Amino acid sequence: MRVAVIGLGYVGLPLATTFAEAGFHMTGIDVDQKKIDQANRGESYIADVPSSQLKRLVETGYLSFTSDYAVLDEQDAVIICVPTPLGKTRDPDISYVLSAVQVVRAHLHQGQMVILESTTYPGTTDEIALPELASTGLKVGVDFFLAFSPERIDPGNPTYNMANTPKIVGGMTETCTELTTALYAAAIERVVPVSSTRVAEMSKILENTFRAVNIGLVNEIAIICAKLNISVWEVIDAAATKPFGYMRFLPGPGLGGHCIPVDPQYLSWKLKMLDYNTRFIQLSSEINRSMPQYVVDKIGDALNEQRRSFNGSVVLVLGAAYKRNIGDVRESPALDIMQLLLERKCTLVYNDEYVPSLAVDDQTFHSQPLTSELLQTADCVVIVTDHSYYDISWIVEHAKSIVDTHNVTGGRKDKKILTI
Ligand SMILES: NC(=O)c1ccc[n+]([C@@H]2O[C@H](COP(=O)([O-])OP(=O)(O)OC[C@H]3O[C@@H](n4cnc5c(N)ncnc54)[C@H](O)[C@@H]3O)[C@@H](O)[C@H]2O)c1
Repeated sequence: MRVAVIGLGYVGLPLATTFAEAGFHMTGIDVDQKKIDQANRGESYIADVPSSQLKRLVETGYLSFTSDYAVLDEQDAVIICVPTPLGKTRDPDISYVLSAVQVVRAHLHQGQMVILESTTYPGTTDEIALPELASTGLKVGVDFFLAFSPERIDPGNPTYNMANTPKIVGGMTETCTELTTALYAAAIERVVPVSSTRVAEMSKILENTFRAVNIGLVNEIAIICAKLNISVWEVIDAAATKPFGYMRFLPGPGLGGHCIPVDPQYLSWKLKMLDYNTRFIQLSSEINRSMPQYVVDKIGDALNEQRRSFNGSVVLVLGAAYKRNIGDVRESPALDIMQLLLERKCTLVYNDEYVPSLAVDDQTFHSQPLTSELLQTADCVVIVTDHSYYDISWIVEHAKSIVDTHNVTGGRKDKKILTI
């Protein structure tokens, strides 16, 4: 079978590779010519896809990349993995999905399967994709087959990858579900068919809302514990000894990435149209979005301890990406923390091996090598991302004061460390 993947980012490139590995003839399509050229040379730009694997699949002819949609004419199936961000007003920006569906429409032919993987609100497949594709005159479930199958990839996860993470599939018709299930079952260990595209769309949003709400809860517990002068880390460790009915979530500087902070807002938006207020989503979002400010308040406390003010202090931020071992800064709370520090006239320095440079407040910053000299020059060190390669004992030895947003210190009672 020939299968095309539209959108070759964190989701699309690993997906194309997994399918090529299973013996499909894969074509990756992207509007970003740089990605296409790089991938065709066998050079991976996604950490979870090794260049050696990409190169082998390109050389053996199982995988090729193009920005020319004309190849869609020859594809038996098309999988759409384009972004679904929020617009400026934090409403869903569905424009990438719409434009991808429109190009698929222009090449839709008898027998073709179309699968949407981008995370979105329930109803996107039947309200947006279906009318567009059906306007060709081809009939869904008979002439072409349409399904939604949410992506569950967890970038940087060494245990779970695309092939060993169960995949949910919901088709527009029973035949659509059957065919899509058969397609994925050839590359993925376990496929879970559900009764409709809406169930598949909603299940993904439930997974991400579950995380957002629980992180919001544990962040509030962290604030409560600080007020009560109790170590939240000790409380969590104690609660987590319960072998049933409790799941360990950790507090931190806020939510990041393209999924957890964004996807629940898609559901909220959809429900607003039905005059329903999604309260858990709103409340957890409010708490999670307030965490960068909470961290900055802690930085103020740490500086105050040293009789210093924000204005003129050098603050070193460790970790810019939203989680360890990846270079993705989308929605990263580190960016909000840096922005707030700049507004308070701090001199900002950061280190993140995976993020060589970044823009905050129209200024470009470059990751600085983490040396003892750098630590000496900083009035305060803020550990935002728990990157496993940070040698915390060494940092503690050299830094003047530390604000630690994670449990890296193991609850050590060190005066110069403020844990959150
Ligand atoms: N990143 C994750 O961990 C993750 C996990 C699960 C689900 N998702 C969902 O998967 C979807 C994709 O996320 P991502 O992180 O891979 O995004 P991404 O930004 O890394 O990649 C998207 C790619 O699509 C390309 N693109 C945009 N419009 C296009 C078009 N019309 N034609 C061809 N290419 C186009 C972009 O150039 C980009 O390379 C989103 O809906 C996201 O919510 C992401």
